[in-house]
Amino acid sequence: MSFIEWTPEFSVGVEALDQDHKDLILFINNLHAALLDGSIETVTEETLNIMTYHSKEHFRREEELFAQTDYPEAEAHKKMHEQFTRQLLEIKGRFMKNPSKEISLEFILFVKKWAVEHMQEADMKYVPYLKEKGFK
Ligand SMILES: [Fe+2]
Ligand SMILES: [Fe+2]
Repeated sequence: MSFIEWTPEFSVGVEALDQDHKDLILFINNLHAALLDGSIETVTEETLNIMTYHSKEHFRREEELFAQTDYPEAEAHKKMHEQFTRQLLEIKGRFMKNPSKEISLEFILFVKKWAVEHMQEADMKYVPYLKEKGFK
């Protein structure tokens, strides 16, 4: 049983965005597995790096669709992405200076909560809108 399971309820109906979300869940699950097998510090560094890149690309993809469709909640949604990026970089900065199991734990809890809530609430909000505009 994975730490987080991607189920069709997470689907936003746009293939590329669903794939991004699946990848994000995979990174979080790998991090969780590393917590159990003792390689958490190495995997935290890798995950922080990959997630910095991945989230930037993913947010860009979502925000491009918002712009193309004049999504009315775009600004509020972008702010959530920016807030996540700030928090991610803040944790990354602390971890790079002083890698520790505590920060790894803080990171995994933060990212799990954020990802699940953001996908289920904020991302779900654009689903009917993009569907109406015909995006897949
Ligand atoms: Fe998303
Ligand atoms: Fe989003």
